[in-house]
Amino acid sequence: MALYSAPRGTQDILPEDQPYWRHILERAHYIAQLYGYQQLDTPIFEDTAIFEHGIGETTDIVEKEMYSFLDKGGDSITLRPEFTAGVVRAYLEHGMHVRPQPVKVYSLGPCFRYERPQAGRYRQHHQFNVEAIGEQDPAVDLEVMSVAWYLYEDLGFKGLSFQLNSIGCPRCRPNFLTVLVEYYQGHADDICDDCRRRLERNPLRLLDCKTESCQPIIDAAPSMREYLCDECAEHFQTLLGYLDSLGRPYTLSHRLVRGLDYYTKTVFEVWAEGIGAQNAVCGGGRYDGLAEVLGGPPTPGVGFASGLERIVLTMKHQGVQVPALPAPQVLIASLDEQTKLMGVKLASNLRVAGIGALISFGDRSLKAQLRQADREGVAFTLIIGEREAEAGQVTVRDMARGEQHLVALEDVISWLSQRLM
Ligand code: HAM
Repeated sequence: MALYSAPRGTQDILPEDQPYWRHILERAHYIAQLYGYQQLDTPIFEDTAIFEHGIGETTDIVEKEMYSFLDKGGDSITLRPEFTAGVVRAYLEHGMHVRPQPVKVYSLGPCFRYERPQAGRYRQHHQFNVEAIGEQDPAVDLEVMSVAWYLYEDLGFKGLSFQLNSIGCPRCRPNFLTVLVEYYQGHADDICDDCRRRLERNPLRLLDCKTESCQPIIDAAPSMREYLCDECAEHFQTLLGYLDSLGRPYTLSHRLVRGLDYYTKTVFEVWAEGIGAQNAVCGGGRYDGLAEVLGGPPTPGVGFASGLERIVLTMKHQGVQVPALPAPQVLIASLDEQTKLMGVKLASNLRVAGIGALISFGDRSLKAQLRQADREGVAFTLIIGEREAEAGQVTVRDMARGEQHLVALEDVISWLSQRLM
């Protein structure tokens, strides 16, 4: 038993899981680049105010889930619970509005939320985050949605669907909220305690309640889409037209309001077979007011983030195979101190030539070293015994065929290179 374990809600990503992570990261970089998104790395922590103002003071993230602390200089710092607020901060700070718009960036890295840990929900998780800032054309909404879709298709996911909604803008949403609040006041005795609080502080989030007894009330609640202003309605209709013409399946949901306050107009999630509605594989939307909240000029933006742990869970659940990571194909077995020294030098030369090589440590018998070679799955074992050392040769054992060849020491690299290509 170990004395310590990883903090609750965090996980070690062990070597056996790394092929999933490496594959996802490789495909994410590739697909982002196909769509013309460039990588932007922001700090893992930011001034607390950026998240408080950006995400919204009455959201669960800001109220309950942030890892915030005073640093040694007395400044309030927060480990990022998400990327968007920090990315927009960077856009403003570096004057990116003078670049061709939209500025299209993606980021990869850990995020931190003090949540109740459960499958697919952790206190440290990793996001692939994509943003297009500076353009309000609904074709950009389509583009970021397509990046997510392409990634999941490329990874081989089945049962994909978009959940989609429009939550309007500061012009049309207040009317809807008045209607929603009136509707809920008529059900005040039937809603849960959390919803009573939401009714006071953040009524849009009423539609996102997961409590069983609130579900029939949400089902019958008014829908924001009925109250959109002309601009928001047209934006949404154009986006739906694009999705229809691409044949992308989507489900309109008046319940989809998302947990961050910066959203305007389009909001969406992707659900995948196997990890269900509670665990969207990604979520995103438009945030046309966020730059202003952070002190910048009015600047539209749209993006999404996908949790990498949820992608791994989905891959495992759906039995998606990933390529194995490259590993050394050669093990060098030696028999005594003198031949071991030759082995160490040979291994070093092989690596310089780009051939991954392992050496066997300690005083193991030849049989044990061959067993190790089997376990490691190498293609060849190079055996240097007394006889080989004297003749300046190595015995090369082809592990799959069980054949052995004597090869001159100076020819080993080219001999292996030809066979390992
Ligand atoms: P979000 O829905 O809060 O949105 O998170 C995005 C994704 O991160 C989720 O769909 C999920 O896959 C993953 N995720 C979130 N929290 C956890 C957790 N505790 N454990 C595991 N995975 C998690 C945002 O963060 C927005 N910033 C997305 C965005 C970008 N909107 C516009 N641009």
